[in-house]
Amino acid sequence: MAKQRRALILYATMTKNTEKIARWFQESFEAYKWEVTSIRMKNTMDIDAVQPLVYFDDYDVICLGSPIVAGYPLKAISKHFSLGAHSGLEEKTTETVESGAESYTQEPMWPPPEGGGMQMPKELQWRRSGNRGPYPGAIYQHQFKPLGIVFTTYGGGFYGSDECLATLEVLKLYLQLNNVAVVGRFACCGKEFGPAGLKPGEKPMFNNAEDGTPMPVPEAEVYEMADGTSFPATYFFHARMWDKPGPRDEAKAKALVADLVEDYFCTVSGERNMVGSQYISIS
Ligand SMILES: Cc1cc2nc3c(=O)[nH]c(=O)nc-3n(C[C@H](O)[C@H](O)[C@H](O)COP(=O)(O)O)c2cc1C
Repeated sequence: MAKQRRALILYATMTKNTEKIARWFQESFEAYKWEVTSIRMKNTMDIDAVQPLVYFDDYDVICLGSPIVAGYPLKAISKHFSLGAHSGLEEKTTETVESGAESYTQEPMWPPPEGGGMQMPKELQWRRSGNRGPYPGAIYQHQFKPLGIVFTTYGGGFYGSDECLATLEVLKLYLQLNNVAVVGRFACCGKEFGPAGLKPGEKPMFNNAEDGTPMPVPEAEVYEMADGTSFPATYFFHARMWDKPGPRDEAKAKALVADLVEDYFCTVSGERNMVGSQYISIS
């Protein structure tokens, strides 16, 4: 009897596009009878309730996803994964240097002082032991190393997929820092909310590059398909932005998980294959 496999899907979302990818991943894992725990990451979370569900040691695959806002993953992700993000480190360092001092005295973050002198903020721990290694940011290489998939939905209105690479790399780093072998990367366009979220045929505002004054917007070309359907071009990089993520993205998301599950876990011995193959779908 094959070993029960488990996946943990952690994702952040504002307008639920990224949640669709999380759901399609889940459905694909479940098609192979995996148990899936899917958790939406928020800035404030009930740490005591969530903690027992998120130890990476308990899972075969960890998926981490976020949309892109102003070039970056959502704050909920960096808040729970970054060492020191949003804790004033940057301000304190700049202030210190500009005041002429050579260094500032920082309270040790780890280990906590004997006798519990300093109050550590309660935060999610991703590993049962050795979460922080011998010092913050270091990992124990001998820990069990689950596989990882990072994913994003994004507008990519200017250049398309180049705009999502930095976010995928940041998400990958957050998993790697917790000794996860990231072998999957998924990105697709997500319909934008607000002024950039145009309906089919809807025109954006165009400004004259010389003086910034409003100018007439050209008509968008309409493209006909062999099956008799047609669609107008968008004014941003990705075509059919109003329909993203759509059925084609669903197929790609599900196929990525299916390929990874079959290649790594449906092996002769039932043991996971050695880390090597990568699964990448970026559009
Ligand atoms: C306030 C805001 C800022 C955004 N900034 C970017 C950005 O910098 N780069 C990008 O490619 N997409 C950007 N987008 C588009 C979103 O990443 C995209 O719509 C994504 O699918 C939203 O995912 P969600 O529905 O899971 O929140 C932005 C969207 C909003 C609403």
